Amino acid sequence: MTSRDEILNLFRTNSDHYISGQKISHLLKISRAAVWKQVKALRELGFEIEAKHSLGYRLLAAPDLLLASDIESGLNCRLIGQTVVALTETDSTNAQARQLAEDGAIEGTVVVADRQSAGRGRLGRRWESPSGVNLYCSILLRPQIPVQQAPQLTFLSAVAVAETLEKVCHLSAKVKWPNDILVNGAKISGLLNEMNAETEQIHFVILGVGVNLNMLEEQFPESLNYPATSVLLETGKSVDRLMFLQTFLRCLEQYYAEFLEEGFTPIRQRWEGYCDTINRQVRVDQGSGSLYGTVVGLEPEGALRLQLDDGRIERILAGDVRPVTKKMDRE
Ligand code: BTN
Repeated sequence: MTSRDEILNLFRTNSDHYISGQKISHLLKISRAAVWKQVKALRELGFEIEAKHSLGYRLLAAPDLLLASDIESGLNCRLIGQTVVALTETDSTNAQARQLAEDGAIEGTVVVADRQSAGRGRLGRRWESPSGVNLYCSILLRPQIPVQQAPQLTFLSAVAVAETLEKVCHLSAKVKWPNDILVNGAKISGLLNEMNAETEQIHFVILGVGVNLNMLEEQFPESLNYPATSVLLETGKSVDRLMFLQTFLRCLEQYYAEFLEEGFTPIRQRWEGYCDTINRQVRVDQGSGSLYGTVVGLEPEGALRLQLDDGRIERILAGDVRPVTKKMDRE
């Protein structure tokens, strides 16, 4: 924990009275000047700290910031979040997590950012990441599983996001193959999992998770070619980002442990339970053209099982799946 986090903890546990600079300096074994420097830094982050001559400091209000110490405290996970890196701004939490992984960071390390300047989406797209409203996080895993099973982790994180949206925000979330979470047909969350492996061995996997929490209509880019939404737009209420993140990390830990013990089947079944295109007619748009058929579930490695009209089963490895609603969609 940094001295800034420690000072913040002291302010929080003493919020009903003043705490003197001298006492803080004594408790944390830092100079009075260092205390003052950290108070100044906290104010710059948006903390309202009252200073009264001869009494000391008192925390009046805190901004909605994701701080490492807050995320770690009360998390109660054994693996996920033992190390948390919380950044005010970064290019991409996936890029940061990859760097940390290459430098030897432990499994379960979590990187979160308040804002991403180059948030990455699937297929080289950009992920809009304005400051202070959403969740942008990446989790480092080092699973001892065959390389071809790594895509299964995408479904695991999709189930954890969907369950968190239900638990914390009381929203009915649906998953869309391969890596989207939708609410009322609009995308609320996207996943970008990246792997570093040799032929036979996974070095690490980065689970990248973006969830639109408190984003306003005008913060979505006009260029989006799909409907998108946020928790705030769906419920009319803003969501506590810290509570959402902690619930998500606990859920992820629980499903990851189950996955390592029991394999993919329980996760696959849960994912299929959240998928509303199962047993429905869909159109799959691929670079080379479109396929029509009925979604019948997931393959063991995570490919989509599509039953074509002539009864053949096609394994879909990439593409955009849309439900077919009218006859017109087939033309
Ligand atoms: C998609 O649906 O295209 C995937 C979007 C993934 C966005 C998240 S935000 C946190 C992490 N860091 C990134 O740069 N991307 C992922």
